[in-house]
Amino acid sequence: MSLFRLDASILPSSSASRSLADLVEAEWVAAHPDSTVVRRDLAADPVPATAWADAVTSGFVDAEQRTERQLEARALATSFADELIGAEALLFAVPLYNYGVSQHFKTWFDLAYTDPRIDTQGTALRGKPATLVTVLGGNYAPGTPKEGWDHSTAWLRRVLEDVWGLDLRVVERPFTLVGVNPALDAFADTAAALKEKAETAATAYGQEIAALRGRVA
Ligand SMILES: Cc1cc2nc3c(=O)[nH]c(=O)nc-3n(C[C@H](O)[C@H](O)[C@H](O)COP(=O)(O)O)c2cc1C
Repeated sequence: MSLFRLDASILPSSSASRSLADLVEAEWVAAHPDSTVVRRDLAADPVPATAWADAVTSGFVDAEQRTERQLEARALATSFADELIGAEALLFAVPLYNYGVSQHFKTWFDLAYTDPRIDTQGTALRGKPATLVTVLGGNYAPGTPKEGWDHSTAWLRRVLEDVWGLDLRVVERPFTLVGVNPALDAFADTAAALKEKAETAATAYGQEIAALRGRVA
């Protein structure tokens, strides 16, 4: 049995989401050195953009009529669902890109969601302990100039928590571009506090999901 970890950052060497996910993973491994960590790195191994449509349209033809691409897409969807269903806990690290959901994550999610075991009721995954780490270059908190421009975090919550029914914890770290983009230099103290808060949450949530091992089907 295992922890399933998905990463979506396209810049692994400087990734804030990966660093936070490392903290969650470290707590899991410390508590359960016998378990394995199953990784899916969507930047290193992106899901083909055509796979989702191939999987969906494969359901509209007789099995023997399916094309090679449709069969490959179905097999990939099955492997994604196997990874999710087979894991005892789930960890997702997903940055905000272009004010929306990471295309790598959306492509992966859409394909996984074609597997009939992960139906609209989220039956196969309901109640599974999970942590979502999400990082934002800017800050979209209430009262900020770009309040409402983060079109990723709410969607991620909806699909993971409400559609799939995961027992979800969310670590959010805004302002990761402070220190990178000089226009944000005035926010150094705020960004440092937000980083520390996110790191504390990541460690606490790692401990939480580790403690739930064996208590959830
Ligand atoms: C191509 C690209 C687009 C980005 N778009 C946004 C954006 O729309 N809003 C934002 O706040 N940050 C944006 N960022 C900043 C990332 O969210 C930020 O750098 C984050 O820390 C990336 O995740 P990582 O550190 O795990 O790689 C963008 C970064 C890249 C590389």
